[in-house]
Amino acid sequence: MRKIIIYTFLITIINFISCSSIPKNTELKTEKSDFIIAFGSCNKQSKANILWKEIAKNEPNLWIWGGDNIYADTEDMTKMREDYQELRNQQGYLQLTKNIPVLATWDDHDYGLNDAGIEFTKKKESQELFLDFFDVPKNDSRRKREGIYHSQIFSTKKGSIKVIVLDTRYFRTSLTKAANKRYQPNIFGEGTILGADQWNWLENELKISKTDFTIIVSSIQFLSSEHGFETWGNFPHEIEKMKNLIKKTASKNVLFLSGDRHISEFSRDTIEGLNYPIIDFTSSGLTHSYTSYSGEPNKFRVKEVVKEISFGLLLIDFDKKSIVMQMRGDKNILLQELKQVYP
Ligand SMILES: [Fe+2]
Repeated sequence: MRKIIIYTFLITIINFISCSSIPKNTELKTEKSDFIIAFGSCNKQSKANILWKEIAKNEPNLWIWGGDNIYADTEDMTKMREDYQELRNQQGYLQLTKNIPVLATWDDHDYGLNDAGIEFTKKKESQELFLDFFDVPKNDSRRKREGIYHSQIFSTKKGSIKVIVLDTRYFRTSLTKAANKRYQPNIFGEGTILGADQWNWLENELKISKTDFTIIVSSIQFLSSEHGFETWGNFPHEIEKMKNLIKKTASKNVLFLSGDRHISEFSRDTIEGLNYPIIDFTSSGLTHSYTSYSGEPNKFRVKEVVKEISFGLLLIDFDKKSIVMQMRGDKNILLQELKQVYP
């Protein structure tokens, strides 16, 4: 009898401790997943990133940087190196990435110049610093070619995922200003985002891919374009080229990740002849966001725009062929969720 009383007392104490350790209003992940990808973008190295510990709570298998990983905005490579060092000193980031792989693309602010493309004079030097920060080995292909595009396959017992990281900066034709200070889409089929070499590389990457899912990381949004800021929509022919390539290579279950916008949203479109929809999951604003956002059109949007700081999660289930996409914020609160079951 005494033993039973002690046992009951212990269980009560354990329950109390485990319940009280879950903060109020926090939704923990409900589905068990085979592989979890966490990603985010727009991270001011000088600001405290309160989301690192929240991201870690989800125990991701991989962290992906979506660009603007630091705000360097400089041609001074000493300053850029110091900016990277400031990020390297962040305990939360070090803790999160201590035991998991990290993939990254860059956007304009870590590339070195706001909204810049091919014209940025320090792109070679900036690439070297980027690769140094991510400890890319000296014999890696990215050390020998222009641009930071790259791919990696992650295999589990149940299935595999290919992550294709695009470089939307190094080769991108300079943008055309519009009267309202935003950009004018090039409707005459001129200019490029990826450049010829990267397009050829991408075609081969898609052609040879045998994985269950393909995640394409683009710093700028692939689908949403009505806002007129930086987007693939400034080069409509490049969107068509990408869609045709996905179809031509019969690529299985392609999903886009993007950042840059300081808001997070899901966009969805279809490609004629493709048996699954193309989703562009924009997750932007790790340390700062577009709090004064008052709405913008996006005919592809699904669900609501998140304007507070957030990170993205992909919960991948190989048996169900599904990806649960989540936007999460401070205290790991679930802000939006979209589930896609693939063929
Ligand atoms: Fe950006």
